[in-house]
Amino acid sequence: MMKNELLNILMEHNNNFVKGETLAQELGVSRQSIWKAINALKNDGYQIESERPLGYKLLTEAELTKASVAIIARLSRFFEAGIFLEEVDSTNRYAKQEVKDLNACLVVADKQSAGRGRLGRTWHSPAGTGLWFSLLLKPDLPSYAASMLTQVAAVAMHTAIVESCALNTQIKWPNDILYQGKKICGILTEMTSEIDALENVIIGIGVNVNQQKFTAEIDEIATSLYLITGQKISRLQLLDNFIADFIPLYKQFVKEQNLAFISERLNTLSSVVNKDVWLIVKGEKKPAKAMEINAKGELLVELDGQITAVYSGEVSVRNR
Ligand code: BTN
Repeated sequence: MMKNELLNILMEHNNNFVKGETLAQELGVSRQSIWKAINALKNDGYQIESERPLGYKLLTEAELTKASVAIIARLSRFFEAGIFLEEVDSTNRYAKQEVKDLNACLVVADKQSAGRGRLGRTWHSPAGTGLWFSLLLKPDLPSYAASMLTQVAAVAMHTAIVESCALNTQIKWPNDILYQGKKICGILTEMTSEIDALENVIIGIGVNVNQQKFTAEIDEIATSLYLITGQKISRLQLLDNFIADFIPLYKQFVKEQNLAFISERLNTLSSVVNKDVWLIVKGEKKPAKAMEINAKGELLVELDGQITAVYSGEVSVRNR
C-alpha cells in the first residue's frame, strides 16, 4: 500500500526530485522504509533516479512499458488502472473479460495475436509498431449511446494526431481515421448492456504509427503516421495526448448525451459529408449523397430522393 502512496507523491512531482526526508514525513514512515519501497517500485519497472542530497525522481519514459502506461492512467485521475501487455490476443477481449470489475481501465498491448476489427475482420497488430489499446468504461447511459462514443473517441484521436505530428487527418464516419483516403486508425466499440442501459463499454482503438510497410493485402488501403511524415512517432506520447483529449470530451458527452458539442468538428473533419457515397445496408450497395452528421451521430444521406438517417453500416466515397 505504502508503495502506491509513494508512487502518487513521486508522480505529483513529475520529473522533479523529492527529498527522502519529505517522503518519510508525508507518509509517516522511516527513511529506511522509503528506501525499501523505492526499490520495490524499481523492481516493478519504474525508473527512479536517486541522488544525494536531492532525493528521488520518477523518470517519465518515452516508450510504452508497464510503468509508463500505469503512470498515464494514474495521472489521468480517471482510470483505475493502466495495464500494458507485451502480447495479448485482443485488448478488447482482455478489457471485457479480465478487468471487468473496474470502473474505468486502460489496456494497451505491444502486439495482438488476434486483433479484432469491425464486421468480424482481423486487425493486423504486429509488435513495436502500432498503438493498440482499449478503454473499459461504465457510463451511466442508454444503450444507443455506445455508437456515439466511437465518434467522441475519433475526435479525440484526430486531435491527438495533430498534437503528436501536426498531421491533419479526416474522420470517415463513424469509426475510421484516414489520410488521403488510406486508413490510419480504426475504432471498434463493443458493449454489454442490460435491458436499456449500458453496462460495460469497450472502446478499442488501433493506430498505425510506425509501420514501414504493410502486407500486400492491406497496402492499398492502409498507411501509417511514419509513412506519411517520415518521422518515428512516440506511441506513448500519442496515447498520452489521446487520453488528455478524450477524458473532457467523454465527461461532457456523458452529461449531454448527444454530440451537438462536437457536431461542427465531426462535420468539418468528415471525409464523407458532402460527398457522393456508396451505402452498404444489409449487404446491398446503394448510391447516396452524404449530407450531414447530426447530433445523434447519425449520417443523414439523400437516398432515392429522400433524406434518411443512417446509424450503422458501411459508407465509401464514390468516384475515387
Ligand atoms: C476497424 O477498423 O475495423 C476497427 C479496428 C479496431 C482495432 C483495435 S486494436 C485495439 C483493440 N483491440 C482489438 O482487438 N481491436 C481494437
